Amino acid sequence: MKITLGNKVVLIGTGAVGSSYAYALMNQGICDELVLVDLNEEKAKGDVMDLDHGIVYAPSPINIKFGSYEECEDAAIVVICAGAAQKPGETRLDLVSKNVKIFEVIVEKIMDSGFNGILLVATNPVDILAYATWKFSGLPKERVIGSGTVLDSARFRYLLGKEFDTAPSSVHGYIIGEHGDSQVPVWSLANISGTMLAPQLSEDRQLELEIQVRDAAYKIIESKGATYYGIAMGLARITKAILKNENVVLPIGALLDGEYGQKDVYIGVPSVINRRGIKNIVELSLDTNEFEKLFKSIKTLKDIQTQIWE
Ligand code: 2OP
Repeated sequence: MKITLGNKVVLIGTGAVGSSYAYALMNQGICDELVLVDLNEEKAKGDVMDLDHGIVYAPSPINIKFGSYEECEDAAIVVICAGAAQKPGETRLDLVSKNVKIFEVIVEKIMDSGFNGILLVATNPVDILAYATWKFSGLPKERVIGSGTVLDSARFRYLLGKEFDTAPSSVHGYIIGEHGDSQVPVWSLANISGTMLAPQLSEDRQLELEIQVRDAAYKIIESKGATYYGIAMGLARITKAILKNENVVLPIGALLDGEYGQKDVYIGVPSVINRRGIKNIVELSLDTNEFEKLFKSIKTLKDIQTQIWE
């Protein structure tokens, strides 16, 4: 087994999300080595060539190549973007049984390589597939990360930034729970520089904004068939936090192990991310209404897990 001290990233699945992520990694100079793996070899090889021609303008050199699952052996991170995609009108959860079956095969191939790094899962329904990946891989929970609510929280911060005419990076707020319809906006803690935002917005306005966040993906899918740039930036941010050992708090998909009194489910929660993966989940002090919504969200996911695994 090779050791995983470097910053090699292997990307499984070079569809719209995977190739946008590869582009973001190159553009931001996040890793030195990137391997693209896809069933559609021609597509992945075309992506490698296309990306190669941008390297001269990237912040640092990067070795990008096409490869097989064997490349996972010495990877620091394997990112899974493969699987069937959400069709117009289809919920993320409709995809579940199709993609769990695909993941059983993918994760087995990754682990057969001798991989001993961190797995980052982006395919939907991401909470269920992160859970499946954790189960199939046998890796410790700290080293299996879902993209969780990284994108929903970005959408929330973007909209609040617009609302208050302030850069989204200065807006602090989280969407937690399912990356999907039962997600929970944590209004009680949303703030700019410690100034709470909920008291400055009517309940109707809060509802409008949270619906815009929740339904953003449906709107984008209706207009152009898929969403990929937002999630690609979120995945690149998580990758950077891992490879640079940042100890930064990001809303990612983590396995609950007693947090919020719950266990055995992956949901989006703010967590400290470093070179070892998830250092710890940061448990938020939610208000009663948020707690209730979170439990409903967790129940939605657990009901699906029960259908698949029991
Ligand atoms: C998104 O939220 C579809 O999960 C994808 O953009």
